[in-house]
Amino acid sequence: MIQIRNLYKSLAGQPVLKDIDIDILDGEILTLLGGSGVGKSVFLKNIIGLMRPDRGSIRIDETEITALKLKELSKIQRKFGMVFQGDALFDSLTVAENVAFGMKRLSGLSMAQIARKVTEYLSMVRLEGVEDKLPESLSIGMKRRVSLARSIATRPEYIFYDEPTTGLDPITTDVICNLFLDLQKELDITSVMVTHDISTAYKISDRIAFLHEGSIAEVDNAEEFKKSDNRHVRNFIDINTGILRD
Ligand SMILES: Nc1ncnc2c1ncn2[C@@H]1O[C@H](COP(=O)(O)OP(=O)(O)OP(=O)(O)O)[C@@H](O)[C@H]1O
Ligand SMILES: [Mg+2]
Repeated sequence: MIQIRNLYKSLAGQPVLKDIDIDILDGEILTLLGGSGVGKSVFLKNIIGLMRPDRGSIRIDETEITALKLKELSKIQRKFGMVFQGDALFDSLTVAENVAFGMKRLSGLSMAQIARKVTEYLSMVRLEGVEDKLPESLSIGMKRRVSLARSIATRPEYIFYDEPTTGLDPITTDVICNLFLDLQKELDITSVMVTHDISTAYKISDRIAFLHEGSIAEVDNAEEFKKSDNRHVRNFIDINTGILRD
């Protein structure tokens, strides 16, 4: 499990995360909701060790990571899979090479074993026969699934998704949501998803946390979250479910 206490991070002289406290529980899907620019991606980057906090504590399975040297930190980072905002596939590598990218480094398998594994992970995200294609020839939904396959191919304990459904049509969004739920069951994984998409959050989350002005304004299961009387949560829900639209 991940324990975060008093996490504080400023960037360019501005506080972005202000004393955040939250636990990420084993086996859950925790969704982080919040408006654009509130610090959702910065939050993920701090936990995964891509950014260092100014102060506070981040314990990953009992290891305090905030003061770790790079070598120790990189061992902890192997526990994580990350699907970055905007896919971040390598454009000049084939789909198979993209999926194999993490595996080669981590597990010392032969090329034939890797090829079999690549096909296996692609089929987990419901993709077939795309191994030799370049990312540019795929649809956004397919790229998103390749990105997902690449991150599960390292067999992480924790997987972080930054805006996995942004830019997808409702049907593809639904396909991706169902895929998350299936993978969660199959892989025994703990997930943190960042999104603005409230319907995706309701559909797949065990708990939803709402980030506002650098603090967690609410964290609860979807049913309770919908009923929150926090003013900022209500506003966000109303705007994103169309109530305030004219
Ligand atoms: N490397 C950086 N240097 C300086 N400022 C940064 C950096 N990264 C992020 N910020 C600032 O920190 C704030 C939070 O950024 P962040 O990317 O976490 O927002 P977000 O909630 O993920 O937004 P979005 O929903 O648009 O992705 C923003 O004001 C952003 O400009
Ligand atoms: Mg972001």
